[in-house]
Amino acid sequence: MKERIDWTTFLVPYHQAVDELKVKLRGMRKQYEIEKQYSPIELVTGRVKPVASILSKAERKNIGLHEIKEKIQDIGGIRIVCQFVDDIYTIVDLLRARHDFEIIEEKDYLKEKKSSGYRSYHLIIRYPVATIHGEQFVTVEIQIRTLAMNFWAINEHSLNYKYSGEIPKDIQMRLKKAAEAAFQLDEEMAKIREEVQEAQWIFHKK
Ligand code: GTP
Ligand code: MG
Repeated sequence: MKERIDWTTFLVPYHQAVDELKVKLRGMRKQYEIEKQYSPIELVTGRVKPVASILSKAERKNIGLHEIKEKIQDIGGIRIVCQFVDDIYTIVDLLRARHDFEIIEEKDYLKEKKSSGYRSYHLIIRYPVATIHGEQFVTVEIQIRTLAMNFWAINEHSLNYKYSGEIPKDIQMRLKKAAEAAFQLDEEMAKIREEVQEAQWIFHKK
């Protein structure tokens, strides 16, 4: 007999988790605002992977239907975008200090960028959802990146989609150059940030 999944039911805790996390993380940003402090969090987005994408990923990775919950870690996805590279590590520390979920894996694609040129910091978390059937844990992937990294990644993603994952070599080369440019932009902005903060401090002392 062919296995079946009731997707609507299956995805309920993922939707709940993504919605709750969006509220919680946007709440952190709000709190910085209220306390008149610089917020390391610029914006927070979230999505639940469409069923068609879940199925094609399962097929690509040879994952059986009953293994999907355990092996596909990005059915729930959260993205936190920030201004500066340092903010990424501030955010990671903020998330590590929380007690409402457990971090089960960390991938630092800043220290080691992917061959495509992709940079981001990923956390895989185990998030408890209170359901009418009791507590249920779902896995959620949190991607943390700067605006420059995000700009690059969304463009590269579109091209991957357009070329079904086989981007022509010349465009791949240009993307790598663009990734390098995004990296330089982040570096340059980090320097300006220090300048600005130093200036503010001098001003404050006077
Ligand atoms: P998948 O890449 O999702 O199949 O799983 P994985 O186990 O290889 O995890 P990985 O950390 O490589 O990627 C997780 C997610 O990061 C992806 O689903 C994308 O959202 C993002 N990502 C990883 N590599 C790239 C990349 O080269 N370009 C873009 N645009 N996004 C990437
Ligand atoms: Mg991958």
